[in-house]
Amino acid sequence: MKAIRLQEYGGQLVFTDVPTPTIARDEILVKVKSTAVNHLDLVKASGTARQILPIDLPWIPGHEFSGVIEQIGSDVAACAPGDAVFGTSGMGAYAEYLAVKPTTIARKPSNLSFEEAASVPVASQTAWQGLFTHGHLEKGQTILIHGGAGAVGGYAVQLASHVGAIVMATASGDDAAYLKSLGASRVIDYREAQFEKILQEKVDVVFDLIGGDTQKRSFLVLKEGGHLVSATQPVSPEVAASHRVSGEMMRLAPSGDVLGRIARLLEEGTIRPDVATVYALQDAPQAWKDITGNLPAVHGMSPSGSGAGRRASHGKIVLRVV
Ligand SMILES: NC(=O)c1ccc[n+]([C@@H]2O[C@H](COP(=O)([O-])OP(=O)(O)OC[C@H]3O[C@@H](n4cnc5c(N)ncnc54)[C@H](OP(=O)(O)O)[C@@H]3O)[C@@H](O)[C@H]2O)c1
Repeated sequence: MKAIRLQEYGGQLVFTDVPTPTIARDEILVKVKSTAVNHLDLVKASGTARQILPIDLPWIPGHEFSGVIEQIGSDVAACAPGDAVFGTSGMGAYAEYLAVKPTTIARKPSNLSFEEAASVPVASQTAWQGLFTHGHLEKGQTILIHGGAGAVGGYAVQLASHVGAIVMATASGDDAAYLKSLGASRVIDYREAQFEKILQEKVDVVFDLIGGDTQKRSFLVLKEGGHLVSATQPVSPEVAASHRVSGEMMRLAPSGDVLGRIARLLEEGTIRPDVATVYALQDAPQAWKDITGNLPAVHGMSPSGSGAGRRASHGKIVLRVV
């Protein structure tokens, strides 16, 4: 089969022939239709975090996919060949076929294309778990979402609004109308203003998708007893305690059950996916250049560096597997 593969840390992505995976008794083989690009793919490939995020080289990137089940292991009963599914995997989705356990997949919503479906699993479940599992967000509470127009942030705004929270977000000014259409009541342009200087009331939850100075300043806007949840970097327990709030870094724990609940919200039109760009699988190197423009600090690369792209719009970058 064809796949995108990395030979060495920091090396080039190569579109090449690799053996088609075989499945264990508790796995399924998915014919991948689309996959999506995550910052995590680039961080792992760079090797900068190899102590905590090691990979076996040569490595096929890709943590999420949509596709059709080709084959099931003898212990698998919950799905069947021919089912259209979407979900997450530990790696390997930048390929024509993928072997995964069915515990992290769900039925593809029938109203979504395969490109749209591939854009959903990582971002939406990160948002869900950030808000509800870690942030304990409830109806009537107020939340500030940093990076609201990003892939995770877009779902966070929609899900928080869906449960009846009052949603504020930081984003570029250009994304204000988009975020209001998703349910944000207030959008603060992070390029023009410092959120802690203009927010008049403190919030119950901060969901931090940016980190650094943004995380530090977030303590100033939290109510006593509030929650700071970061998806980007650890939160100092000492600093959190000194502000009488809780603070933690979350890490996505993929769940077919959560994804199934998200699929129902997508199918009934309560929330919607957002695809920024679709590339062919072999154009993964360009897709990686594009995503570095969103959060250059994460990759240590300048968006104006050689060949680096600039984000055309909000939403997810998807790779179509033909
Ligand atoms: N812990 C986990 O399990 C987990 C899971 C998924 C993602 N993540 C992490 O979560 C972060 C967000 O991921 P993503 O996929 O949503 O990113 P993304 O789609 O690339 O979006 C990043 C967004 O942040 C905006 N932004 C940049 N600087 C900002 C600032 N100072 N204040 C407010 N907004 C700012 C960008 O807007 P402009 O382009 O207009 O500046 C863009 O809309 C990444 O660091 C990713 O690695 C963690």
